[in-house]
Amino acid sequence: MSDAVSLMDLCSASEVPEGGSIKVEKDGLILAVFNLGGRFFVTDDACTHGPGSLSEGEIDGEVVECNFHNGAFHIPSGRVEAPPCMVPIRTYAVQVIDGKVCIALAAA
Ligand code: FES
Repeated sequence: MSDAVSLMDLCSASEVPEGGSIKVEKDGLILAVFNLGGRFFVTDDACTHGPGSLSEGEIDGEVVECNFHNGAFHIPSGRVEAPPCMVPIRTYAVQVIDGKVCIALAAA
């Protein structure tokens, strides 16, 4: 039997500018939603290094650079791309359903 998964819708896909990102706060999560050429990705908004907000970072291809100390992360995987960040950011499985960006969450 597979684990139950619930979908949480975050925003309309049209709210996220192409090549950009927005911050979404929902159910205690603070997330960054990215639109990379029409593909959507969701990560935690908080930089793992400090107070940076990744939805306010600079996007270059698939990489977001934190605007605090210029650490960087690969958006699709969350892996660290540049120091001083050491810890990957959490990423979420995304589905776009009826024009809404949704993430899959394991049901409690
Ligand atoms: S807070 Fe993001 S690189 Fe330091």
